[in-house]
Amino acid sequence: MLIKIARPGDCRENEVTDEDIFLNRRQLLKQMGFVGAGALLANSPGAAAINLFGDDNEKRFQTRDLEYTPGSESAEVLTPKAKVISHNNFYEFGTDKRDPKENAQEFKVNPWQVRIDGLVEEPMTLGYDDLFTRFELQERIYRLRCVEAWSMVIPWIGFELKSLLQQVKPLSSAKYVAFETLYDPEQMPGQRNPFVGGGIDYPYVEGLRLDEAMHSLTLLSVGLYGKTLPPQNGAPIRLVVPWKYGFKSIKSIVRIRLVESSPPTTWNLLAPNEYGFYANVNPQVDHPRWSQARERRITKGGLLSNNRIDTQLFNGYDEVASLYQGMDLRRQY
Ligand code: MTE
Repeated sequence: MLIKIARPGDCRENEVTDEDIFLNRRQLLKQMGFVGAGALLANSPGAAAINLFGDDNEKRFQTRDLEYTPGSESAEVLTPKAKVISHNNFYEFGTDKRDPKENAQEFKVNPWQVRIDGLVEEPMTLGYDDLFTRFELQERIYRLRCVEAWSMVIPWIGFELKSLLQQVKPLSSAKYVAFETLYDPEQMPGQRNPFVGGGIDYPYVEGLRLDEAMHSLTLLSVGLYGKTLPPQNGAPIRLVVPWKYGFKSIKSIVRIRLVESSPPTTWNLLAPNEYGFYANVNPQVDHPRWSQARERRITKGGLLSNNRIDTQLFNGYDEVASLYQGMDLRRQY
């Protein structure tokens, strides 16, 4: 059987053309007179429930407002929520950027279980409510740069993966962390039909070295823009590793396994010459089929208002550089 394998690079420019009203929640709160809005949100339980970004999609999908500790102010322009939730890669729901929003609305995320096991002293299973109550939720405004040379700036809500790993107590033999997405062909058309799912051998899998997983920037996200994640963004829980290309940020996770050696990863299995295990954002290492030197930052408007900017090493998160000291990042891409 001949299957057309869609690559994350097969992205068309005209997929991001809709005009949206851009609202930066923080700017808006300030304009409304909430000086020091961060402190206000942190201290009053109801405050995070202000829904400035409601839309039809949220009404159809079960969402709840999250209480969290807002992070530091970002000097960058946030990508409008309407774009964050409508321009997605989630091949289980189709390979076109518009497919996940279209096809994931009935995706059932509660009940949900995440199993954390492997080389750990205390394996654990988290239920849906645990995802929102057992760890300290924070808002983190992160840039996420896709291997396709576009990027967004998103206010994620989540907790540090480190805080979960510390609870299960990795054994000294654990060197890597393997992640797995739900396998449920009944709910995920791309898993039923290889023409819909891009020929990927599901479930989608990803991995990190243990020190990468333990880095305080590495987030398990359960929400964005003050709400639980929409299904197309990886509900109820997904990874966000902001210094790596977006495909490392695996969605709808059901299993996290501590292992001894480098685990298989979906895009590396599919095209090893194009996608390595590390996948650190690096403007000096081109993808075999296109340059990675620049990126299109998706902001408020149509094509002309999307900025083209230089891509930065590690997506600008210089604090991770020490993790890769002594490595040849051209070979270990
Ligand atoms: N996780 C799963 N399970 N399936 C996918 O197809 N796509 C990856 C990543 N996580 C993907 C996934 C890719 S290629 C990117 S760029 C990001 O999710 C996109 O995240 P976003 O749609 O929330 O922007």
